[in-house]
Amino acid sequence: MKKSASSDLALLGGQPVGKIETPPFPFFTARTLKRVNQVLVDGKAIGLGRSHSPELVEAEEAISAYHGGLHCLSTSSGHGALQMALAGLDIGPGDEVITTPYTWGASISCILHQGAIPVFADVDPITGLIDPKTIPPLINRRTRAILPVHIFGQPANMPAIMTIAKKHNLVVIEDGSQAHGATFKGKRVGNFGDAAGFSCMGGKLLATTEAGYLVTPKEDVYWKASLLCQHMGRSPDKGFPKGLLPYADSLVYTYRMTPLNAVLLTEQLKKLDKEVDHRRRNLEHLRHYLSDSRFVSLPKYKAHEKPAFHIVTMNFNHQKAGISRDTFLEAIKAEGLLAMAYIPSPIPSW
Ligand SMILES: Cc1ncc(COP(=O)(O)O)c(C=O)c1O
Repeated sequence: MKKSASSDLALLGGQPVGKIETPPFPFFTARTLKRVNQVLVDGKAIGLGRSHSPELVEAEEAISAYHGGLHCLSTSSGHGALQMALAGLDIGPGDEVITTPYTWGASISCILHQGAIPVFADVDPITGLIDPKTIPPLINRRTRAILPVHIFGQPANMPAIMTIAKKHNLVVIEDGSQAHGATFKGKRVGNFGDAAGFSCMGGKLLATTEAGYLVTPKEDVYWKASLLCQHMGRSPDKGFPKGLLPYADSLVYTYRMTPLNAVLLTEQLKKLDKEVDHRRRNLEHLRHYLSDSRFVSLPKYKAHEKPAFHIVTMNFNHQKAGISRDTFLEAIKAEGLLAMAYIPSPIPSW
């Protein structure tokens, strides 16, 4: 694998180190595919709610158990889950939500879709995670919420964020879309805040086709989110608070999950922990091979921070290397390897 001189680089005409064979992703077991097929054959592909679909019940119960018994609402996307989490917590026009400038755009657009205003804290330059100490100076009388993102599968410092939220009476919505299975001090991400939204689109750690879910410890947040998530909401479901009925069919969205994705979710969840363990072991190999690199470094995590490694983030020292990040990326790509600048610049500068 090792190349002896820079003139050997594929970018400069040398032989590439080789093409990386990436297996099909997401991988679905034969049992999963059989179950999905059966749902189609049985004509059960409509997911109007728990009372209509045992597949949705099964998926939501499995996710709820994974998150220590929190209420779970399945959705058609991570974006929908995050927006419904905000809506369920009554975040609306004019409210300010403190969040991170370094994330996928959906972490921000869900705030704008509620008519609320994203306010950007700063990030740790090594991990790209929201830096809790940059949050308090942004708090004012309009601030209602904090929305941290567990970017690349790394857990944000939730105890610090929850302490700030408690002190200022703010709610916290976690974006765990890239971080299924990550933990901070032994607690799973998604289990710290007032609600959390997760993406389960086909590129994620818990991958289906296009799907998501929200979890919340608060029953009223679950019901309000379920009302806004589809027409008629879950008003036919057991336990529906009748007082909310007048709101059941107003200006709502269609963010419901199909039973096909519900089956995928249930079955994919069964192998999630094993897959995350595998990623953690792979990361240790990579750390070993990069240990003598002068220009590239991996973040060092404390023993209580357990990332799930959806994406491996690295820092490139362009000053030491004497070439730009983009040239470095071109060189990596020319070798047949995969690397990218995740978002080239912070969201507020777009
Ligand atoms: C951090 C983050 N938040 C939100 C989303 C939105 O999820 P979805 O694409 O399922 O709407 C994604 C992924 O796409 C994401 O990576």
